[in-house]
Amino acid sequence: MRSHVVVIGNEKGGSGKTTVAMHLAIGLLRMGFRVGCVDLDHRQQSLGRYLANRLAWVERSGVSLPMPSVVVVSPSNSDLRSEALAEETSGFNRALAELGGTCDFVVVDCPGADAPLARHAHTYADTLITPINDSLLDLDLLGQLDPVTWELKRAGIYSSLVWELRQERRKAHKSGIDWVVTRSRLSALADRNKIKLAEVLPQMQRVLGFRLAEGFGERVIYRYMFLWGLTVLDLGQSGIAMEMTRSHQSAREEVCSLLANLWLPRVNERLDRI
Ligand SMILES: Nc1ncnc2c1ncn2[C@@H]1O[C@H](COP(=O)(O)OP(=O)(O)OP(=O)(O)O)[C@@H](O)[C@H]1O
Ligand SMILES: [Mg+2]
Repeated sequence: MRSHVVVIGNEKGGSGKTTVAMHLAIGLLRMGFRVGCVDLDHRQQSLGRYLANRLAWVERSGVSLPMPSVVVVSPSNSDLRSEALAEETSGFNRALAELGGTCDFVVVDCPGADAPLARHAHTYADTLITPINDSLLDLDLLGQLDPVTWELKRAGIYSSLVWELRQERRKAHKSGIDWVVTRSRLSALADRNKIKLAEVLPQMQRVLGFRLAEGFGERVIYRYMFLWGLTVLDLGQSGIAMEMTRSHQSAREEVCSLLANLWLPRVNERLDRI
């Protein structure tokens, strides 16, 4: 397999995984890379639906937009859990083998739950991106904090899982996972919660084995364009009649900054193409 696999995972639902996956995929395409997407959320299929909306928009408008290849891994019909997992796992492996042969990057969007197939996908991650909401409740999945001293008492359930899957990956593929955590939907205001998270996260990263990167701010543009399958990176292209506001410009910069901080192969030399 030639491609670099980027898994977007966090078993906490609604943390911005699909939004990051979509913007990452479109950013990489706009840099001229070949991109494949795997949607593991076979119930909601948010990434698959986002990309289907994009295809429909292209057909309706006649405007050409860069499109990734996309695979939604189908659920098994088997009642036997072990049989169902084996079937879904081989579906995922087939999708990865197919996309891996032709794409530079494969972006895998995981569901917001601890699903066995998502665990399996993590062991293929060259890069794992975990967006988290700026909330102490969500942070608990990464690490459990002492309410008096704010010290890290123990790893949270998701960090423990990543640790376990990293060992599995090392055994199976002889390589590690570059784990990047991003804060999602950051408010413009510096409230007490935001300041505290900015203090504790850098301390947690050393112990838990991830590195922090800037995420996306809370902006309407990230959720507004779903129905047309467009992203903020598509604004400014001829044929898309939407004014580029200052907030849209800032959103583009956030996406570029995330792309730069992921340290993906050959990406930083092409950032000016977006
Ligand atoms: N930066 C942002 N600004 C504004 N809205 C956002 C932002 N990021 C995500 N959202 C919105 O928040 C909601 C959850 O985002 P998203 O679907 O990307 O999360 P998810 O982690 O993929 O969820 P799930 O766990 O259900 O798959 C969606 O309504 C999305 O449009
Ligand atoms: Mg999602």
